[in-house]
Amino acid sequence: MASGFPFAQLTSNQLTYSERDAGYRRLHAWPEPSYHHDSGLHLVWRYDDARELLEATAPEISNAQALQPLVGFGRIAANPRAVGHLCRHLLPPPAKATADLTDDMLHRRVWATMAGPTGYFTVPADMRSERADALAEHFRRSLPITRETTEPLDVTALSITYATRVIGETIGLPQRDWPAVAEWSDAQSGLLGRWMRGRELADAVGALGRLFTVSGSAVAHSRRHATGFSGHLLAAGIAPRVAVSVVANSLAAGVHTVSGSIQQGVQRLLDDPDRQWWKLLGESAGAARVAAKVLQLDPGLVGWKRNILRPISLRSGTRLQRGPVLVMFAAANRDPRAFADPLAIDSTGKMPLTFGFGRHTCPGKQLAQLAVEVFLRELHSHTPHAQLVAPVRSARSRPGDLLFSGADIVIR
Ligand code: HEM
Repeated sequence: MASGFPFAQLTSNQLTYSERDAGYRRLHAWPEPSYHHDSGLHLVWRYDDARELLEATAPEISNAQALQPLVGFGRIAANPRAVGHLCRHLLPPPAKATADLTDDMLHRRVWATMAGPTGYFTVPADMRSERADALAEHFRRSLPITRETTEPLDVTALSITYATRVIGETIGLPQRDWPAVAEWSDAQSGLLGRWMRGRELADAVGALGRLFTVSGSAVAHSRRHATGFSGHLLAAGIAPRVAVSVVANSLAAGVHTVSGSIQQGVQRLLDDPDRQWWKLLGESAGAARVAAKVLQLDPGLVGWKRNILRPISLRSGTRLQRGPVLVMFAAANRDPRAFADPLAIDSTGKMPLTFGFGRHTCPGKQLAQLAVEVFLRELHSHTPHAQLVAPVRSARSRPGDLLFSGADIVIR
C-alpha cells in the first residue's frame, strides 16, 4: 500500500490496525472525493458525503440493491451448484424486509418491531445491567472448556462463538442451530463484500439458503406457539414471508459485525506498549468508553452499499455518476473534517456513522454496543496480563472483503 489509492488492492480485512490507520490517513488526503474501484463500486469516504448517502433522502439515492451479491446474480446463475442451492432453498425468492426494502410504510413497521422504545433488540436503560450479566454468561460459556489458563486463547474463535450465542439466543433460534449460524452468517456477509467464484460461491449460496430455511422454520414454529422474535414480528402484523427475511437478515447481520469489531479492537488494545485503553477496561465505565472508540475506529463492518439511480451532486459538491456506491463509513469516522483527533479516546466530533444514519439505522445498535463492551471487559478480567501471540497467517492472507473486517487474534 505504498503509493496510489490506499484501498485499491487491499481491503481493511487484510490490514493490521496500524496499517488501517495509515491507509485511512492517506485516504483523507486523497485529492478526489470518490474512487472507481475494480469491483465496479464507487468508493466514497468523506463524512458529509457518507452521511448523506446513508440517509438516502434524495430520490437519486437508493437502498434497493443493498443486499445484492457483489458478483451479481449472473455469475450465480452460471454456477450449476449454486443454482441447485438456489432452487432448493431460495425459491420463491425471499421477501425484501430490512436493508433493501423500499416500501417505506412496511419498512417503518418492520423497523419498529426491532428498534425504537419497544423494539425487540432495544436495551432499555433499566435493563442494561441485567442484559450485561446475561452477555457475561455467554462469554463464560464461549470459553474452551478444557483450556488451561496458561494455554494460548484464540480470541477470534471465542468472539465468533460468543456473537453467535448472543444473536442465536436473541433471535430465539433452537440451540442446536447456534454453531451453524456463524457459517451461514459468514456466507451472507461474504456474498455482499467478496469477489467469490466456483465452489466458494456455490457453498456460500447454499449456506445462505440454509439461513433462510432455518428462519422459515423459526417463523412456522412461532405461528403455532407465538414465541420469541418471530412471534413478536407476527404479533405486530408482519406477514410470515416478510418475517422470515427479517429473521434471516438479523441472524446474518449480527455475528461478524460484532465479532470483527472485537477482534480488531483487541489487536489495537494489546499492541499498545502502554496499554492505556486495555487498562481502562478494568475501571468502572471504562469498558463503555473503550467499546465506543473501538466501534468508531475498527468496526467489523466498514462499508455499506447504496445505488445512484441518476447522476447527482451531493451537498458538499461531490458528483456521483449512476451506479453502485460503497459508503466507507469506517473511513468517514476518521475524517479530520468531522473529528478533531479521531485516534484519541475522548476526541470531539460528529456522531460516528458505524451503525448507519437515517431510516435504516442499525436496529441492533444498542445490543451490539453492549455485546462488544461486555466481551472486552470480561476478556480483560479473565486475562488482565494478556499478550498477543504472533499470528500464524498474515493479515494479507485473509480474504479481500469490501464490507466486513476482522483479524486473527491469539493471546497468551
Ligand atoms: C458492530 C455491530 C454492528 C454494526 C457495525 C452494524 C451496522 C449496520 C449498518 C451500517 C446497517 C445499515 C444501515 C443502513 O442501511 O443505513 C445495519 C443494518 C442492520 N443491522 Fe446492524 N450492525 C451491527 C450489529 C447488528 C446486530 C447485533 C443486529 C441484530 C441483532 C443487526 C441487525 C441489523 C438489521 C436487521 C439491519 C437492517 C436495518 C434496516 O434496513 O431496516 N445489526 N447495521
